[in-house]
Amino acid sequence: MGNIGAKEVPTLLDAEGRRIDGRRLDELRPIQIRAGPLRQADGSAFVEWGANKVMAAVYGPREVHPRHLQQNTKAVIQCRYNMAAFSVDERKRPGIDRRSQEISKVIAEALDSVVFAEEFPRTSIDVYIEVLQANAGTRCAGLVAASVALADAGIPMADLLPAVAVGKVGGAIALDLKKEEDNFGEADLPMALVPQSGRLVLLQMEGHMTEPELAQALDLGVGGCRVIYEKMKAALRERYSVAPAAEEAAA
Ligand code: CDP
Repeated sequence: MGNIGAKEVPTLLDAEGRRIDGRRLDELRPIQIRAGPLRQADGSAFVEWGANKVMAAVYGPREVHPRHLQQNTKAVIQCRYNMAAFSVDERKRPGIDRRSQEISKVIAEALDSVVFAEEFPRTSIDVYIEVLQANAGTRCAGLVAASVALADAGIPMADLLPAVAVGKVGGAIALDLKKEEDNFGEADLPMALVPQSGRLVLLQMEGHMTEPELAQALDLGVGGCRVIYEKMKAALRERYSVAPAAEEAAA
């Protein structure tokens, strides 16, 4: 126990190696993914991940606004990540801030690396991410929701993009940090993986860890991404699979 300003630092790792919510170091928070919950959007997905609740909606390919962003050889992927004012403990000032601009940018760039944008020149693919409840790892939850929503919209992609934040808490490398671990831990490292190629298309780090710890964190994160990938595919299968009875009725 120590003090940062007036705030007491919670014990992040107990003597048995259990975390603040009882998880082991390599354990993800529970994740539920639903593809296609919104009717108006071309594609959508809702992700509940621990205490995070994130909705993504995709529109397009459609006309580019503002017009000057139009590209002659490919679609432009525009992403808007937004955290609702009521999504955090202390009301967040509504509107775009530097953090949401940065997150929108890194998510758009990650998505751009898997979407076959050359197939839709002079168009825009618009991705909206709304964080309704936040508890750390929202950029990863947003990316998971966005790539399922893109698939739901029928946008051709090389792969889905599972993502997770790894970090260092109580001196140990841990998978999928929750808020207290993000706030009081020693490091936070969000990442996104293209599972079929093994490429990382988002990698950020706040805090400090050693080189061997970084290697361990990357391994742990890649493993976590592969588990999340299966859940993303299952959500899409559930949305698009036809129940045997319905199939017979349609025949
Ligand atoms: O959400 P993510 O971990 O991707 O980004 P972050 O900037 O590391 O933020 C970590 C967490 O801090 C968020 O998920 C929120 O729970 C919280 N936060 C907050 O309470 N108020 C803000 N204005 C920004 C973040």
